Amino acid sequence: MKHLLSSGDLSLAEANSILDLADQMQQVQSRQVKKLPVLRGRTIVNVFFEDSTRTRTSFEIAGKWLSADTINVSARGSSVSKGESLRDTMLTLDSMGVDAFVIRHPSSGAAHQVANWVRAGVVNAGDGQHEHPTQSLLDALAIRQHFRKLGQDGWAGKRIAIVGDLLHSRVVRSNVLLQRTLGAQIVLVAPPTLLPTGVETWGVEVTTDFDQVVADIDIAMMLRVQTERMTGGFFPTEREYADAYGLTLERLNRLKPGAAICHPGPMNRGMEIASEAADAANSLVLDQVAAGVAVRMSVLYHVLGGASEGIPL
Ligand code: NCD
Repeated sequence: MKHLLSSGDLSLAEANSILDLADQMQQVQSRQVKKLPVLRGRTIVNVFFEDSTRTRTSFEIAGKWLSADTINVSARGSSVSKGESLRDTMLTLDSMGVDAFVIRHPSSGAAHQVANWVRAGVVNAGDGQHEHPTQSLLDALAIRQHFRKLGQDGWAGKRIAIVGDLLHSRVVRSNVLLQRTLGAQIVLVAPPTLLPTGVETWGVEVTTDFDQVVADIDIAMMLRVQTERMTGGFFPTEREYADAYGLTLERLNRLKPGAAICHPGPMNRGMEIASEAADAANSLVLDQVAAGVAVRMSVLYHVLGGASEGIPL
C-alpha cells in the first residue's frame, strides 16, 4: 500500500490485514520496552495544519515504537505562516528524503493533492470535512475487540448508529466507507440541518429521530458538534440539541445489553454526550484511543512496507 488517503480505497482483505496486525501491535502497548525494530532507518514527518491532540500524538508514538524517526511540523512555527504554499512546503520536506507524510489539513482533498506531488507515502490524518481513514480503522478495531469480548465475531447483523454533527464530520464519511466494506449496518442520526447534502445516496439508513433507534443499536457513536466549522445557527440552543440528539442518561439506560458507546474525541460533555455516558462501563472512548496507537502502527507498517522477513513481535 503506497498511501492511505480514503477508507473507500481499502479492500476487505486490506482492511482486515490492517486490523489483524493492529491487534498484534497492541501487545507492545503493555510491554515495558515498547520498541519494534521494523521501521528502523525510516523517516516519518507529521505535518499538521490543524489542531490535534490524540491523532498527532498517536501517530508520533506509533512511529517511535516501530523505531522510525518521527518529526512534527505544524503550520504555526513553519514557513506556512510566512505564506508558503502547501505545494512548496511539501516539496521542500519531500526533498529531505522523507519516507512517509502523515498530513492533516483544513481543506478537503489536501491529502490527495499532496500524494500527487511528493515521492513519499502519504497517510491522510484528516482533510477538512472529507475523510479521516485511520479514525474509522481505530473505531473498527475497538468495536471488533468489544464484540469479541462478548464472544461475537464478525460484523453481520451489527447496527452502528452515528449520531450528531454529520455535516462537518470527516469521521462519519470514513466510517460509512469502511463499514460498507466490513459489513456492519449503519444508521445515521442528525437534525435535518446537520445532515450532509446527498446523504440519501450513501446507501445507509438515515433518521432525524434518535429515540426511534436508540434501543435497537449495538454501537452508539457520538460525534462532536464542530462549532469551529459552523458559520450559522444549525440548532436553536445547546440545551435543545442535547435533549434531542445527545446521549443523555435517559438514553444511556435505554441501550440494549451489550451495546457500547464510542466518541472520537474531543468530547463536549453535556452536549452530544452526558458525562454518565462518557464514563460508563460500556464506553469505549479510551479503548478507541488505545486502539489508535495500534492501528497507526499497523498503517505505517503497511505504507512503509516494513521488513520482508516478517514482523519480529
Ligand atoms: C476528529 C477529527 O479531528 O476529525 N477527532 C479526532 O481525530 N480524534 C473528530 C472531531 O474533531 O470532532
